[in-house]
Amino acid sequence: MDQALVQIQPAQAAASLIQTANVPENLSTREPSGAGNPVAKHPASGEASAAAKTFYIETFGCQMNVHDSEKVAGALFAKGYRAVSTHEAADLILYNTCSIREKAAQKVFSRLGAFKKRYRESGKIIGVLGCVAQQEGERIFERAPQVSLVCGSASYSRISELIDRIERGEPRVTGLSLDTDQCFETEITRRDHPFRAYITIIEGCDKACAYCVVPMTRGPERSRPSANILDEARKLVDAGYTEIQLLGQTVNSYQDPSPTRLNFTGLLVQVAEIPGLRRLRFTTSHPSDFSPEIVRAIEAYPVLCNHIHLPVQCGSNRVLARMRRTYTREDYLQKIDCIRSSEREISVSTDIIVGFCGETAEDFEQTLQLLDLVEYDQVFSFKYSVRPKTSAGSMEDSVSEEEKGRRLLILQEKQRQIQLRRNQGRIGQRYEVLTESFQPKLHQATGRTASNQVVNFPGEAAWAGSYFTVRVTSAGPNSLVGMRADPV
Ligand code: SAH
Ligand code: SF4
Ligand code: F3S
Repeated sequence: MDQALVQIQPAQAAASLIQTANVPENLSTREPSGAGNPVAKHPASGEASAAAKTFYIETFGCQMNVHDSEKVAGALFAKGYRAVSTHEAADLILYNTCSIREKAAQKVFSRLGAFKKRYRESGKIIGVLGCVAQQEGERIFERAPQVSLVCGSASYSRISELIDRIERGEPRVTGLSLDTDQCFETEITRRDHPFRAYITIIEGCDKACAYCVVPMTRGPERSRPSANILDEARKLVDAGYTEIQLLGQTVNSYQDPSPTRLNFTGLLVQVAEIPGLRRLRFTTSHPSDFSPEIVRAIEAYPVLCNHIHLPVQCGSNRVLARMRRTYTREDYLQKIDCIRSSEREISVSTDIIVGFCGETAEDFEQTLQLLDLVEYDQVFSFKYSVRPKTSAGSMEDSVSEEEKGRRLLILQEKQRQIQLRRNQGRIGQRYEVLTESFQPKLHQATGRTASNQVVNFPGEAAWAGSYFTVRVTSAGPNSLVGMRADPV
């Protein structure tokens, strides 16, 4: 693909289009704020004329989905559509779905079921996008006849054309091909977070973890040419964004397809060198492709945030092999050692699945021991959920729901204590905090450190988007409390 066509729409200049309060901070979906719960909606934008056609898009799942919705919104704005905040007010209703776990996948059908009768004859266009669309395909039409568009993420570059066909009277239109070697770039990406911008650098996944639907729902791995990414990043910084987050299901498997041939660290460094950028994040890293080069880059570039999300999934080699994770516990711990021996303190978070097929009490014990060894700053933990078409789908789901629930609680309680201890060790320290939100009732601002710790401190609404030095005064397991320590 040649030149990036991304036209940056600075969110400061327009009404915010996505409420990001619940947007998860890594690629994992999580309960209760992820895992099929809506993480982003497009509320009303007063920009287009009242006569314009209207759309409503609700997004479930990971940050890649959140950012995909921004790209789809951009394509719709370019067609003259206007965003509205309720499905009742919309001519076009889109659900951008997640199918990582069964509960997440069911969410869209309960949404669709809620207005089945009302909307069948209403002339509204209803579309299912994303991972459930890709996985279920045309079966969605049978289950929910009011749906006229089913489109997976690899076909979003055709979304405008697909909607045209429905508008011309075609009752059922699909975009389900995964046969693409390109990344999706719309002419306009409509970003909605005022100071953090996502950039997809790699789409799809070529790993084959036994439990996971992503290779089926997002297709084979495709990296974007580095020139397009750098061009987009420069435009974002020029438009006023100070934090950029590079996205990919296996972000560190990035391989520049253009003659520049940058690897992931090469790309990181080039983005980090863009003048004016203050924070650069990336997620999600796969342990097998994690190299010490990344740690060296974090040491050399203060703009690179000192946080790595490195999903381990399980602490037992037997289970890791059954999961087809391509690394052992020892390999993983070696990468952790490399991170921990850095001259810059780097925080580490992870994802863990409990109760995978055949996981014994002994296997689970090894996961608990791994938590003690690594001392993560955050763990996103999930009960194993059998997914259709995955290789584990044909294995016996041997751990009962009750036992999965029991293991999850034990793991979460252990991790809560680790986080509490680690956070209390931060009392008295000063951190640079990017202010993200404000709670008027409490007069409290909330922001994040570069290492991704949430910090609450007395503040004002106008501070959103500003950076302050905050001194930590107390700490809980999930967040820090502090006071501004710089001149006010
Ligand atoms: N690409 C990322 C993760 C993507 S999915 C990676 O490789 O780490 C986000 C998380 O959801 C995964 O890390 C895993 O912990 C969880 N997950 C994926 N499939 C699941 C399943 N079938 N049941 C339960 N959790 C699952
Ligand atoms: Fe799924 Fe594994 Fe790919 Fe992550 S690396 S998206 S868990 S198949
Ligand atoms: Fe869900 Fe698809 Fe993301 S399955 S986690 S929305 S890649």
